[in-house]
Amino acid sequence: MQSTMDLGTVSPTIEPMSPETNAPILRIIGKAPLSGHVPISGAKNSILALMAGTLLSSEGCRIRNVPNLADVKRMSDILETLGVKISRSGETLDLDTSNLTTNSAPYELVSKMRASFFALGSLLARLGSAKMPLPGGCAIGARPVELHVRGLQALGAFVQIEHGIVHAHAMSSNGRLQGARIYMDYPSVGATETLMMAATLAEGETIIENAALEPEVVDLADLCRAMGAKISGAGTNTIAIQGVDRLHFADFTAIPDRIEAATFMIAAAITRSTLSMSPVIPAHLTAAISKLQDIGVTVRIDSEDMITVIGGDRYRAVDIETLPYPGFPTDMQAQFMALLSICEGNGVVTETVFENRLQHVAELNRMGANIRLKNNVAVVTGVPQLSGAPVMATDLRASAALVIAGLAADGETTITGLHHLDRGYDRIEEKLRNVGANLYRTTANTAV
Ligand code: EPZ
Repeated sequence: MQSTMDLGTVSPTIEPMSPETNAPILRIIGKAPLSGHVPISGAKNSILALMAGTLLSSEGCRIRNVPNLADVKRMSDILETLGVKISRSGETLDLDTSNLTTNSAPYELVSKMRASFFALGSLLARLGSAKMPLPGGCAIGARPVELHVRGLQALGAFVQIEHGIVHAHAMSSNGRLQGARIYMDYPSVGATETLMMAATLAEGETIIENAALEPEVVDLADLCRAMGAKISGAGTNTIAIQGVDRLHFADFTAIPDRIEAATFMIAAAITRSTLSMSPVIPAHLTAAISKLQDIGVTVRIDSEDMITVIGGDRYRAVDIETLPYPGFPTDMQAQFMALLSICEGNGVVTETVFENRLQHVAELNRMGANIRLKNNVAVVTGVPQLSGAPVMATDLRASAALVIAGLAADGETTITGLHHLDRGYDRIEEKLRNVGANLYRTTANTAV
């Protein structure tokens, strides 16, 4: 989806090739059958928004089910530069938000992770003013933020962008934002979250129309409500928020990660294995379950929080078009493409959400896949077998796709660019080894 207002779109930052020879790599010896149970961690894309939401209250917050992810560490670093004190005990974060020491987030941290931009809404609502660097583009796209900016302007904020920094302050004399009716040109997840957070402390009612429906938006609304916010309609395309004067402490548990779950579902399918996984929320996995069943994979819903995936002998290709929720999730596109590589027939994959999220095609083709790319459409012609090869991860979900392909490939696959993988998967090697996969992390110059 292209940006509709040029806010000086930041060109995607291309990750520099790692100069050191001791860069970590993942070695996978393919074709090991998998079996057993995989534990699913808390949802990265919810937790990052939840952490931004804690800024709305001075009474602090406890967030449970928080995995050890690079992106969570980055968000913690950003909140700590704002004055938040964070302590971790296992998978529980305790955030003391009583004393924010600045309203300005640091460029060097925000530029590394887009989700930190979502804190603009909560910071502005809490302090009445905020300075937030424009998030860097990334490998998958320019990632503009005009929907966030326009919505905050509708809420009565004066927003100016100078030298790549978004300066925002509430224009009303009492420093509070003013409720408004906001229509979003596109159901942006982050913009919905930014505006919903900002509106919780605004004066009066805010209606967000054409809002994103993603489960992570609902989870954030649930946290804000637990903190005393008045929000209705989250999970539909129209969200209503009645502003309140202040919010209070909440002890909150994040939802399980539907993207991680889908990643392991596809790992079971591509290795023709049987894996169960929990906790999951099956209703968040409808698109993935439906597509796997169309391909010829058996998916059994064992209980309200556990599913079992049973791989089959013959798979048929299907078409995939990524769309906002509840459409097929763009975050599952790369992983499914790895599976389509060994399905009989032609599968057409259309990426409509991001403009540059097909970089894994070249790497899968190095592993023997037969994928032809034209603009945002990839035609995947199934092959009987992938073959191991040295490949490079280009972004978070592309790295997951390469792991999946390596599990099924004949021979050894080595993956570099693991910093992408570590952004969104906690201990993925350990979780896979525990169900029989043959893979381990080493360094490029380690003789095997
Ligand atoms: C969230 O990103 C997720 N990240 C992404 O997950 C996910 O792919 C995406 O939603 C879509 O589901 C987090 O939640 C931290 P968007 P977000 O705003 O909010 C354009 C992963 O792999 N757009 O819904 O940034 C935008 O460029 C990550 O876990 C504008 O044009 O996504 C994109 O093309 C990747 N202007 C489309 O909308 C705006 O102001 C969807 O973006 C905002 C967005």
